[in-house]
Amino acid sequence: MSNGTAGATDDRLAFARAAYNDVPLYDPKRTPIEIDLTDNTNLWGVPPSALRSLHDAATASVSRYPSLYAAELKRALAAYVGVPDDMLVTGCGSDDILDSAMRAFGNPGDLVVSPEPSFAMIPIFAQMNALRWQSARELSATPMPQPDIHAMLATNADIVYLCSPNNPTGALTARATIERAVRDARGMVIIDEAYAEFAGVSSVELTQRARNVLVVRTLSKAFGMAGLRVGYAIGDPALVREVEKSRGPYKLSALAEQAALAAVTADRAWVDEHVALAIDMRERLGDALRAMGLSPLPSAANFLCVPIAESVRVGAALRTRGVAARPFPELPHIGDALRVTAGPWRLMQRFLDALDASLDECAR
Ligand SMILES: Cc1ncc(COP(=O)(O)O)c(C=O)c1O
Repeated sequence: MSNGTAGATDDRLAFARAAYNDVPLYDPKRTPIEIDLTDNTNLWGVPPSALRSLHDAATASVSRYPSLYAAELKRALAAYVGVPDDMLVTGCGSDDILDSAMRAFGNPGDLVVSPEPSFAMIPIFAQMNALRWQSARELSATPMPQPDIHAMLATNADIVYLCSPNNPTGALTARATIERAVRDARGMVIIDEAYAEFAGVSSVELTQRARNVLVVRTLSKAFGMAGLRVGYAIGDPALVREVEKSRGPYKLSALAEQAALAAVTADRAWVDEHVALAIDMRERLGDALRAMGLSPLPSAANFLCVPIAESVRVGAALRTRGVAARPFPELPHIGDALRVTAGPWRLMQRFLDALDASLDECAR
């Protein structure tokens, strides 16, 4: 892994699990900074009912164990996405769901395939579960780069991972590509919809007619609750049950479950309002970047991927000005790029000013 991970150490314990030999610790280089535009979270804050629920938490929410499988939150999330309760499983962030799903549906040595570029944790989760991982380069088709589903299916993988909108490009995966994967994949298809609220389209409906699809969602992005770690997935009841076994009991803290429940039932207008704002700010930021002579990729998410030469150097120069955006060096078909989260305009303006100065500095 060249990006987002730290190298494995040489001084490993001889009795540690062999599959962990080359598993790196995730390292997206996030150090505290005044304006952090690196993680695609909701930069307007936390939904009000969720915040109130945290303030008003009862002692028992801390002193006693939480519910086994977050049944109440499951019911609320199932109503939110429009599926029966038994088609939904929660987890400690969607990371936990992805990890649990790989453990549930992959035997050691099985193959996971994902597009490249895509979510950097997928190869790590595969390794953590003693699975093999392969990538298929996205096609350079414009305007939105698309997964090469033909190449992905040709690997005969046991688990096919798709991400829509994709991170880090922001591209929506074509419906035909997703349907083809679901129809022709040998095993499981995981569709990661971490940014679905910003795109306004979803594959959840596919889970009602295909038994091999798991749609993975999170409250970390549009719902503004990344610190509480709440993710969920939708799929056939039999599929969801296996993820639930793999995930284990008591995974969501009581505080996280209560705050998530409050947000999903009472804060939907807040979420919708801030999703619309994020889209507006993304478009305005895109216009400003184009006016600077840059060409951000079209995005259906709350971030922009901006091709930029020497992204690591530009990222470092931005940091000296108190602003962080995430560099992605050498993305296939794209080259170097910066990924920047859309947020309130005053933050976008700070980013644009810092970028302007950083590009000047790097050109000298
Ligand atoms: C595509 C994608 N999937 C999953 C995640 C994990 O999110 P969380 O574990 O916070 O739900 C992220 C986080 O950045 C992401 O970009």
